[in-house]
Amino acid sequence: MSMIDNTQPAIKVDTYLKSVFPADFLWGAATASYQIEGAAYEDGRGLSIWDQFAATPGKVYQGENGDVAADHYHRMPEDVALMSELGLNAYRFSIAWPRILPQGTGTVNERGLDFYDRLVDLLLARGITPLVTLYHWDLPLALHEQKGWLNRDTACAFADYAEVVTRRLGDRVDWWTTLNEPWCSAYLGYDTGAHAPGIRNKQSSYIAAHHLLLAHGLALSRLRAYTRKSAQLGITLNLTPVYAADDRPETLRAVERADKTSNRWFLDPIFRGNYPEGLFADAGVAPPPIRHDDLNIIATPIDFLGVNNYSRSLIRAQTGESGDDTNRGYEHVAGVADATYTEMGWEVYPQALTDVLVRVHRDYAPRAIAVTENGAAFADQWDGSDHVSDPQRIHYLREHLKALGWARAQGVPVRGYFVWSLLDNFEWAEGYSKRFGIVYVNYPTQRRIIKDSGHWYAAFIAAQRRQQVP
Ligand code: FCB
Repeated sequence: MSMIDNTQPAIKVDTYLKSVFPADFLWGAATASYQIEGAAYEDGRGLSIWDQFAATPGKVYQGENGDVAADHYHRMPEDVALMSELGLNAYRFSIAWPRILPQGTGTVNERGLDFYDRLVDLLLARGITPLVTLYHWDLPLALHEQKGWLNRDTACAFADYAEVVTRRLGDRVDWWTTLNEPWCSAYLGYDTGAHAPGIRNKQSSYIAAHHLLLAHGLALSRLRAYTRKSAQLGITLNLTPVYAADDRPETLRAVERADKTSNRWFLDPIFRGNYPEGLFADAGVAPPPIRHDDLNIIATPIDFLGVNNYSRSLIRAQTGESGDDTNRGYEHVAGVADATYTEMGWEVYPQALTDVLVRVHRDYAPRAIAVTENGAAFADQWDGSDHVSDPQRIHYLREHLKALGWARAQGVPVRGYFVWSLLDNFEWAEGYSKRFGIVYVNYPTQRRIIKDSGHWYAAFIAAQRRQQVP
């Protein structure tokens, strides 16, 4: 397929994007605490499930871990300066719960709060709007030792933690999401075990998901109490539209089932106060322990939905014995002719972003939406100079920004877009082998080099700002 048609940072964007994005649109980049901070044993930080998981042989690529990562904890002012250089007017980062409450509950570690306090002030001084994620997967290990997300008390502990953070930052930060991708926490953490805490039990993943959703709902009133009137409260979900690879009725039924387990599992309780019909039966599990009022709490209205989207799912009903999961009766189709795949093996399919945004708007009508993650890993090469050429990422970003423009043009109230990621970082079970940054990180020296895609994105934002998109 013709992948690369622009290797220069110079910008060319279709005319229709002109004026599709309002002047106050948030153009940002995203990161997460464990993936960039390092300083794992400093300033009173407690351990998280990811410290333990990464230390377990065989769990992370080449036994890598987040002890140093991109050393952002020590280089934070330099990284904020980079954001300015790129012209970002927004930055999404997550707070490490174990820095704030090293044991998960109880004693507050002020030095942890001080770090994020300084970060917020530096961002605001440069006109960059902070968007805070309270939980991007680094659960305090002490809570995991009491069963983590399988324990309902963890939801209450999360609400207490949310209050501690908003009491400190709520006077300056307006954009908050409770959880990042609870689907990943529940499914990868408790069903496949590919992520921390590495449990492999389908039933457990449905229990964990319920407690994660409850944590989100319980935290909302605490966030509301300690933030300004202008605060925008939400949650970030990873949403992947599911498409049928053929038109057999069994494939169409499989598409519905797959949509339920990958998207509606979280969308329905948050926006409709119900789990989708048949969700538990399809998975062959018992319903999680849902107490009276839980679903009302979970459905507490939010101001915006954070959507993370990278690709699509293309599936077909299984015909024979083979396939990736006989329980579900369908399989994912890979190796689509003419398609491009990223280093993660994810198909580049920009239409998915338009489709998922239009669908969420139509079916769930959140008051506003922010695309809180979108981006691509490619095998970037650095030759020691001041440049990193990454034409495939430029192509990816350009096509996805067009797709975003299409969604807005169709009336979807999208208010922000955050590239994943600002920096190359610790990509969970893939360690440092996958680079998602628009800024290259040379790990041995921690030198940062803005990739061509970073320059391209900066030019795109500048052109938007001038409203001079050619
Ligand atoms: C998302 C995660 C983020 C990053 C990207 C590639 O699922 O939220 O931390 O790993 O994928």
